[in-house]
Amino acid sequence: MEIAPLSSALGGEVKGVDLSQEMSAELWQDIHDVWLEYKVLVFRNQDLSEESHLRFAKSFGELQPVRSATHIVGDDQPFMYIANRPVNGVPGILPNGEMHFHNDQSYYEFPCKASFLYALEIPKQGGNTMFLNTVKAYEMLDNELKEKLSGLSVFNVYDYDRNPTAPSDVYDAEAPQFTHPLVIEHPETGEAALFTSRLMSHHIVGMERAESDALLNQLFDHAEGLALRYEHVWQIGDLVMWDNFASQHARTDFDPEETRVMRRITVAGSRPVGLGVAA
Ligand code: SIN
Repeated sequence: MEIAPLSSALGGEVKGVDLSQEMSAELWQDIHDVWLEYKVLVFRNQDLSEESHLRFAKSFGELQPVRSATHIVGDDQPFMYIANRPVNGVPGILPNGEMHFHNDQSYYEFPCKASFLYALEIPKQGGNTMFLNTVKAYEMLDNELKEKLSGLSVFNVYDYDRNPTAPSDVYDAEAPQFTHPLVIEHPETGEAALFTSRLMSHHIVGMERAESDALLNQLFDHAEGLALRYEHVWQIGDLVMWDNFASQHARTDFDPEETRVMRRITVAGSRPVGLGVAA
């Protein structure tokens, strides 16, 4: 196995691995280690059935059911088809449009720890997935701001039906929602990371709303700064996996007349723990 860095911020392309085949414990450990180091891994030219996609994802932990869309796919279904056409007779999820930066399922007590996205059909242009490094984003804040963030919690909510791709102040009271520390300690590496995103974070708990909006926007603008990013331009057969506690992702717009079909599986994470707070 070889790894080639994809940007100075995060991301590495793994070469010499066929994910459709069973792998040795040593190879799995190498992939696991570079995933934690690079935060985002790209495997090109993979030929993955649902079964082989599932086998690889499962080797990283317990699967997260597709909880955002229980009205469409059901709780025991691990495959989420992010698609703008029906797949297996079921309408696709998050079909079209630009999607703002987020951590997968930060609006639940137990967000995803890892996501595995596989490209089946892609548009000629756009529909790229951008990633940013939330460990670097935190590291690069000045000490005064780090001090200010210490101990803060953020209320996250995701109104899947009303507004799945852009932030909205108005949300259904029943929409999934959870408050997490704004700066977390990564469960495996112990690195400090920002855990607040433009798409899903609504307000900082206990802070006056205007101040909360200003602080969150300052953090989002900082984290989304170009230097912290890697933008993945998809090819059919790409499998991209990311560390959801150390990165965020967003999608660029694309022509809705073109077809984009991605198969996603997610692995469950632990409840995020605030920086410096004993688990
Ligand atoms: C996602 O948030 O998992 C969707 C990303 C994408 O469609 O590129």
